[in-house]
Amino acid sequence: MRRPLIAGNWKMHKTVAEASAYLEDLIAEDLPTSVDVVCCPTFVSLPAAAMVVTGSQIGLGAQNVHWDTSGAFTAELAAPMLTEIGVQWVIVGHSERRTFFGETDETALDRARAGQAAGLEVIYCVGETLAERDAGETFAVLERQTATLGALDPGHLVLAYEPVWAIGTGRTATPAQAQEAHAFLRVRMASIFDGAAADGMRILYGGSLKPSNADELLPLADVDGGLIGGASLDVGSFSAIIRAAADCAAGDES
Ligand code: 13P
Repeated sequence: MRRPLIAGNWKMHKTVAEASAYLEDLIAEDLPTSVDVVCCPTFVSLPAAAMVVTGSQIGLGAQNVHWDTSGAFTAELAAPMLTEIGVQWVIVGHSERRTFFGETDETALDRARAGQAAGLEVIYCVGETLAERDAGETFAVLERQTATLGALDPGHLVLAYEPVWAIGTGRTATPAQAQEAHAFLRVRMASIFDGAAADGMRILYGGSLKPSNADELLPLADVDGGLIGGASLDVGSFSAIIRAAADCAAGDES
């Protein structure tokens, strides 16, 4: 059985002080231990955040990583710089990076490889735009976005299915839409890697996931957790989603 993972992508939110205060409050929540929990603050908050989460169950993730270990790459960060301060996870290929910062399938793969080479667990984002969905191209897009993933270690890879039309819009994929895309991605992982790797790989849903819809989306057969933006910024709503994931895991066992 796959252990649920709930990851918060804070995007460009929270100052260093706010990040530390949030994490102290989250740790005080007495969260269920059956769920992996990861928070991904901005780069500048990572060192302080690492100090706060040390010894807790909260994992720490970065929102990006460069593909080289050092060099003339203004405003980028290398994977060893992240691991040195205790970062264990990294988000790669987010649609906001693709839309606003020129990320491509190729650069996303290079970043993911560099992250894995340094020992980071990679959360690799894929997902179609509304125009692509309306044109019936969802599966073709997912196929293209995952085409190069065979170069990665599936044991340190988490996929995040984030339909672009559901990110920050309040519009969520229906359970049927989410399950269909996740099942497609799992079959795809089996063909790229093998059945065991696909069965073991966590595939997160992302896109307006919040406490009010977590109970519909998290129990789906091929949904193994969530990558949460807006609702991760509030300790109460993020903890509620973590508890919903724990309830699903408990339900699966009984
Ligand atoms: P929202 O939860 O705000 O829709 O963001 C999802 C997301 O992009 C997480 O990476």
